[in-house]
Amino acid sequence: MPLSYPEMLQDDCIGVARAVEVLRSGGLLGLPTETVYGLAADARDGKAVARIFEAKGRPRFNPLIVHVPTLDHITELVEIGPNARILADAFWPGALTLVLPSKGKVADLVSGGLPTLAVRVPAHPLAQRILQAFGGPIAAPSANPSGQVSPTRASHVEAGLGARIDAIIDGGPCEVGLESTILKTNDDGVRLLREGGIAREEVERLVGPVSVDLTPGRVEAPGQMERHYATHVPLVLGGEPKDEDLCIGFGPVEGHLTLSDSGDLVEAAARLFSVMHKADELATARGFQRIHVTDIPEVGLGRAINDRLRRASHPQA
Ligand code: TXA
Ligand code: MG
Repeated sequence: MPLSYPEMLQDDCIGVARAVEVLRSGGLLGLPTETVYGLAADARDGKAVARIFEAKGRPRFNPLIVHVPTLDHITELVEIGPNARILADAFWPGALTLVLPSKGKVADLVSGGLPTLAVRVPAHPLAQRILQAFGGPIAAPSANPSGQVSPTRASHVEAGLGARIDAIIDGGPCEVGLESTILKTNDDGVRLLREGGIAREEVERLVGPVSVDLTPGRVEAPGQMERHYATHVPLVLGGEPKDEDLCIGFGPVEGHLTLSDSGDLVEAAARLFSVMHKADELATARGFQRIHVTDIPEVGLGRAINDRLRRASHPQA
């Protein structure tokens, strides 16, 4: 029997048509967004959604984000209040996810039985074309095996999930490189559930101070596990590097990997997962015992970068 591999699709008319066919037939598609690659399925098809959990090896209770092409499509799925409207107008299409009261239009498994639904309008032009052509809501978590580093290139999806999924469409490297910022809004205000591609400061400029509870294990975004984004070779954050470490820097570092030569947080965010994949590969191939990452300033996108690095470096249970 021939081995089955995911079909590799290109960013052209044929690729888009085939991607839509895969989704319509209840298949799983590796799909680029501007944040990270998603593992997409028809959000109305319970079986297709169940296959997402199976392919990722993801605990059932972690709810998924639903993607649609415009704000109009959002209003069919959830109730949108005044704060949500302000944020949607400012940041969509883009790296923002809003958790809002669900109208129950998608498969139950998508929100893991919660009365709310996480929704997002992605900006990536290829994601937009596929969403428009498909015409329905697409559930998509990041396209990595559960707990591992998120994919920012089609090749990362192929390496991580391979034959467990039906197809991958290549939209190039992700521009933002970090998952979306997740906010939950209601009449009382705005809560930050996950730091991400839109800095907290940008949100607060529009809606005032947001409340934050990112305590691992207690967070309202149940997918926010303490150990997540893990590399195979142990990763340490901060402190002094040892001689036997493979180092990831922030700023110009000769002979080492760097998140950004110029110390730019936006560039560092965009490169983070790619550099983590690369460091893991190099460290494994060359027998390094640890990957050491320099401290990153805790401002703007630096908060989201540090959040990912802290989870990646959490000691294995
Ligand atoms: O940028 C992104 O957000 C990417 C791209 C593909 O859109 N997606 C992504 O999905 O990061 P995922 O599944 O890796 O993370 C989704 C997060 C989880 O932490 C989950 O707990 C939270 O969203 N979430 C989903 N629905 C929720 C809900 N109803 N209430 C609270 N948190 C929710
Ligand atoms: Mg994820």
